[in-house]
Amino acid sequence: MKNRVCELFKIRYPIIQGGMVWVSGGKLAAAVSNAGGLGLIGAGSMKPDLLRQHIRKAKMLTAAPFGVNIPIFSKYAESQVHTAIDEGVSIFFMSAGSPKRFTPILKEAGCTVAHVASSPTLAKKCQDAGVDAVVVEGFEAGGHNGREELTTFVLVPQARDRVDIPLIAAGGIADGRGIAAAFALGAEGVQIGTRFAATVESSASAQYKNQIVAAGDSATRLMLKALIPVRLIRNSLTERLHALEARCASGKELEAELGENAAKRAIFDGEVDQGEVEAGEIAGMISDIPSTGELMRRLVSEALAAAPGDALREAFRNENGFS
Ligand SMILES: Cc1cc2nc3c(=O)[nH]c(=O)nc-3n(C[C@H](O)[C@H](O)[C@H](O)COP(=O)(O)O)c2cc1C
Repeated sequence: MKNRVCELFKIRYPIIQGGMVWVSGGKLAAAVSNAGGLGLIGAGSMKPDLLRQHIRKAKMLTAAPFGVNIPIFSKYAESQVHTAIDEGVSIFFMSAGSPKRFTPILKEAGCTVAHVASSPTLAKKCQDAGVDAVVVEGFEAGGHNGREELTTFVLVPQARDRVDIPLIAAGGIADGRGIAAAFALGAEGVQIGTRFAATVESSASAQYKNQIVAAGDSATRLMLKALIPVRLIRNSLTERLHALEARCASGKELEAELGENAAKRAIFDGEVDQGEVEAGEIAGMISDIPSTGELMRRLVSEALAAAPGDALREAFRNENGFS
């Protein structure tokens, strides 16, 4: 049996490092690709010229395939797409917008396209728009989320029933058990964010990485539904935002409280009490900051060990002594 995600992206393991603003530059993407996964440069925090520099850096650091993630709602999305095509990038993970917008241009340019969806309905629309693969992301994921609030466990099997193209699961996966579970639900690959954000090669600040390590099992909260929902680690800023949300404050008031560059301030500059500390629920399970190579080795060996075939066979042989 061959794995379609590995074949599509020409990678050794079907493990994708999700594009992450202020976290996944050329260095992290190249490190993941060198370790046999697929690294993605997160263009969301880059003007087109900076994206060009990160693509060139990744090319210097790896000969393996890597890709670019472009959130479609960004005002730079169109120029980012053209910059990346100019620089020879051929793998695009598009998110936060309609799959109809760039898929035709990217396919015309000979690229491989994946799109991030937050519901089975949107996954089907992605397939209809002609993408090569779909990432379904549950709302336990770090960063911006869909409004449907579907968990990965609910989303993956329903999406599997709706699409034939390769299916990649995202949201709440940080070790081999999560990978094995995603495959049991019908995924053929995984996209991992928060776990890769706390690695040596991640370009996030030490303070941000330490916040992930310190996060308890209920540290995050889904905020800002009146703007774009985003999952954040609780801090002084989220408490103030929560108070505003409790009294149904307007989008303008929430924006004013957020201030400029709230994600950059927390993730990149390290102001973790006053900025947006984007992270997934699974932060509660993360307790170290390994190198990407070490993390990839762990994920692969844990996934193999966690495949539940024997336990399932034992449990369902109906020889447990009860009638
Ligand atoms: C700090 C951070 C920034 C993110 N930025 C983006 C982004 O720019 N574009 C995007 O499509 N997804 C973004 N995501 C989502 C990830 O690509 C990935 O799908 C998600 O983190 C998977 O869930 P997990 O965090 O539970 O592993 C971000 C996630 C985090 C934690």
